[in-house]
Amino acid sequence: MTLSTNDSKEIERRRTFAIISHPDAGKTTMTEKLLLYGGAIHEAGEVKAKKERRSARSDWMKLEQERGISVSTSVMQFDFCDLRINLLDTPGHADFSEDTYRTLAAVDSAMMILDNAKGVETQTKKLFEVCRMRRTPIFTFINKLDREGRSPFELMDEIEKVLNIQCNPVTWPIGMGKNFKGIYHRLKKKIILFTDEGFATGEAEEKSFDSVQDPMLRELIGEELHAQLVEDMELIDGTIGPFERQSFLDANVTPVMFGSGRTNFGVRAFLELFVDTAPAPFAQTTFGGDIVNPEDDFFSGFIFKIQANMDKNHRDRVVFLRIASGKFERGMYAKHARLGKEIRLSHSAQFMARDRETVDVAYAGDIIGLHDNGTCKIGDTLYTGAKRIEFSGIPQFSPEHFVKVDLAEPLKRKQLQKGISELCEEGTIQLFVDPKVGDQDPLLGAVGQLQFDVLLYRLKDEYNVEVRLRPQPFKHARWIRYKDGRTANPDPYSVKGTLQFAEDRLKNLVGLFTSDFHLSWAVHNNPDVVFLESMQSKLTVS
Ligand code: G4P
Repeated sequence: MTLSTNDSKEIERRRTFAIISHPDAGKTTMTEKLLLYGGAIHEAGEVKAKKERRSARSDWMKLEQERGISVSTSVMQFDFCDLRINLLDTPGHADFSEDTYRTLAAVDSAMMILDNAKGVETQTKKLFEVCRMRRTPIFTFINKLDREGRSPFELMDEIEKVLNIQCNPVTWPIGMGKNFKGIYHRLKKKIILFTDEGFATGEAEEKSFDSVQDPMLRELIGEELHAQLVEDMELIDGTIGPFERQSFLDANVTPVMFGSGRTNFGVRAFLELFVDTAPAPFAQTTFGGDIVNPEDDFFSGFIFKIQANMDKNHRDRVVFLRIASGKFERGMYAKHARLGKEIRLSHSAQFMARDRETVDVAYAGDIIGLHDNGTCKIGDTLYTGAKRIEFSGIPQFSPEHFVKVDLAEPLKRKQLQKGISELCEEGTIQLFVDPKVGDQDPLLGAVGQLQFDVLLYRLKDEYNVEVRLRPQPFKHARWIRYKDGRTANPDPYSVKGTLQFAEDRLKNLVGLFTSDFHLSWAVHNNPDVVFLESMQSKLTVS
């Protein structure tokens, strides 16, 4: 298959990103505004309504219905300024799970939303760290300027200190709360005046000024706010300097913008910056160290998420695949790298803002959902062409919740072991085994509590096993490796600290910690080894 000029253009115009934020910072509101701009929805409220409506739908997992939450990572696609933008949802709140992290392996950039009164919160920090692992470029949007909040300097200082990334304000707020007058756009040298009537996609009033000293500007925003703006700009220009796209793409700098998603203010400015600076699909690396470019003429992609039982009657699953190179056409054949066999990609869906739709053609950068009867696992690669490709996989992330399992009916131990083993392979939960005890009493770990709910539900529904979960006191698991690059597991007896050890299912050594203090003590007192928060190993072994 060769790519036509048109195909290459399609790839070049793909932009795939996610929003990362702490619950309540305004992600849903912002998603809605972005979709309104892109014409993917037509009135505000559709995204929220969809969230609520889900509980009434019949073809989603029962668990979703009972809890009224979304277990899925949905993908929304919209067009803006000739770009085809894929926005991946990163579930938060109660549905926070390892899937939330894995989703970030499928994006090329991220938008971090902060509440201007709260700044960097726990979930923002966790998600940011996952982006940093892959050096994903991050836009920062400080939200809710229509309400009183903290000083913009203080917020930028916090981002720099807590997240360890340099800030470069592209827009700058003039006042806030009741006194919010708008934003000054440093790159475009214009002021965008705030109006709280911006519920549609109508343009806010913009005025250009060659300099912030312009008396007309003073008249517009008042003496006091003008003096403040002049002082702020002097300080910023003198200390921070101009915004450089390359530093953003290298993930050394985050462009910072201010606005108010609810009143639709600053959203267009964000989208314009996004269009000018967000990266097109990245090249991906294979296990062999080869680089696969998006415009390569063969199709390839990797699976980053599996959603089981969307339709229980068929026991089917949908696997989410990020296309890494080339073009997808429905009905095509692709090789499954791990199994070494060819499969037909006939049932494909794209998860649009409104609904699931069949997709006939998709390009590098896009996400497609493929129906699967159990042949795919997280991290699997599908490809076409003569050369075998296997991408370097999706890492496992350190769980923060741990349980042991008590079986209600002891005679069902075999089913339980089968269920746990299969659900771990699928990535639903993580399995840790104390080598001294063996797999009779495994420890299960999850990034979010939801994963345990899914485990209970699926064990009962698919394996007919009822269990009780016994919470364990650990807070962190860390993969322990030699610093000097030796691949063998370090000897647990040589690691200082009163920690407990286990092995993951690929037999990597893992240390378990009951507190932050416990962990940092071990880190400080074991200079020869590293304690990894995530493990990039071949998740799927043949
Ligand atoms: P999330 O998805 O990140 O959890 O946040 P979401 O958009 O649901 O927003 C959380 C709350 O913050 C909502 O209020 C929302 O209206 C509000 N919000 C979002 N953006 C802004 C903003 O720019 N300014 C102000 N003042 N508020 C904002 P709610 O009361 O929970 O819901 P609703 O009744 O407004 O829908």
